[in-house]
Amino acid sequence: MAKQLWGTRFAKKTNLLTYTFTSSISFDKKLAKYDVLGSIAHAKMLGSKKIIPAKDAALIVKGLSSILQDVKSGKFKFDLKAEDVHSNIQDVLFKKIGPAANKLHTARSRNDQIALDVRMYLKEEVKELEQLIKFLQKSILNFAGNNSKVIIPGYTHLQTAQCVLFAHHLLAYIEGLERDKARLLDAYKRIDEMPLGSCALSGTGLPIERERVARELNFKDVTQNSIDSVSDRDFIIEVLADLSILAVHLSRISEDLILWSTREFNFIDIDFSFCTGSSIMPHKKNPDVLELVRGFVGKIHGDFSNVLILMKGLPLSYNRDLQLDKPPLFNSVDTIKSILTILAELFKNIKVKENVIAERVMDESLFSVDIVEHLIKKGLSYREAHDIVGRLVRDSLDKGRNISSFDASELKKYSDKLDSGIKNILNAWASVNLKISYGSTNPRLVAKQLALWSKRLIARQ
Ligand code: ARG
Repeated sequence: MAKQLWGTRFAKKTNLLTYTFTSSISFDKKLAKYDVLGSIAHAKMLGSKKIIPAKDAALIVKGLSSILQDVKSGKFKFDLKAEDVHSNIQDVLFKKIGPAANKLHTARSRNDQIALDVRMYLKEEVKELEQLIKFLQKSILNFAGNNSKVIIPGYTHLQTAQCVLFAHHLLAYIEGLERDKARLLDAYKRIDEMPLGSCALSGTGLPIERERVARELNFKDVTQNSIDSVSDRDFIIEVLADLSILAVHLSRISEDLILWSTREFNFIDIDFSFCTGSSIMPHKKNPDVLELVRGFVGKIHGDFSNVLILMKGLPLSYNRDLQLDKPPLFNSVDTIKSILTILAELFKNIKVKENVIAERVMDESLFSVDIVEHLIKKGLSYREAHDIVGRLVRDSLDKGRNISSFDASELKKYSDKLDSGIKNILNAWASVNLKISYGSTNPRLVAKQLALWSKRLIARQ
């Protein structure tokens, strides 16, 4: 059992079961770097305000700086018998510099300390997540640019619907990911408030200067209410909610790729290096990476509801329950980071089967709306046009004939507005070119979007 920060008041030793049950060092050691940085800023402030002697502050800073080196280089040996990361670092500091170490915890509690550590951790992680999302967007954009001349059948209800540029479909992923980035950066604003100095819950009678600590640690502002500061975990819930939405997007991207790589679709080939095989069926090449991405979403949503439920009905201010926010948070952040990293690589390893796809877009039912719009342009109402084309499509399917094989007199039977001119629009390129509305699959508009995104993603490096 390591030294506890509160042992003296206790008449009895802690039961070993209690000790292990309440310990958090196994996971909060991840916060060591931030804990030390926060303590350095705190000690400097205590020294400058003469709350502790300047020479003690200098000694503390020196001791903590060497601990920081060890933490960063991985040399720091965590004491898994310590209660938490705060106690562990305090202990090591005492061993390094002696009694001056005992002044570090002046005007501070672990309640505001842990709130600070998690905020610092998240500030770094959110920036890293932003970068990783951007890498994935760039990888998708590259893939879209390399296949900008491919037209695929677009789907609704997983039934073939209308032709779309493959790049248009891929750009849809980039849009969603951009919103994910924006949500995280919005949460960042609320993470970027410095809680230290709130102490246990009520603040302190010592003349601390919270703004100075905030400046030193590069926070935009200080938190405004000491009770809220030690109770609030909204910023964690927000990040987990944002990651949950991001995870949904990543699972949908994965599902598209899984479907497209089936023999039934056969639109793409995912390189062997990103697939795995079967122990029994020699012919198999399975998209396990993508299946796991899809599967991990469950864990991430679980983490989100974990913390949400943890917070429900919790009385103000600090409660030890709050310790349990960290495993789900760390798990989600780490999982999403590994997913973003592997997906960005995977997109560099997909081949598009242009010939197979080209055959699929010969299916003339994909152009039914184009014929409807052709008739509308000739003055028919939408309803009339829909009926005419409905009959035409039904007959073509029943008779097993392409619409393009109907001659002028046959077409006339459906409507005198239906002429053999429609044959010019019964192909994939005509179909996408006919779309003119902003945001549509028109090749010129999609090319513009591709250019815009490459400017956006490269400019905001
Ligand atoms: N380990 C705690 C947490 O993660 C911080 C320590 C606060 N403990 C206490 N007894 N006040 O929230």
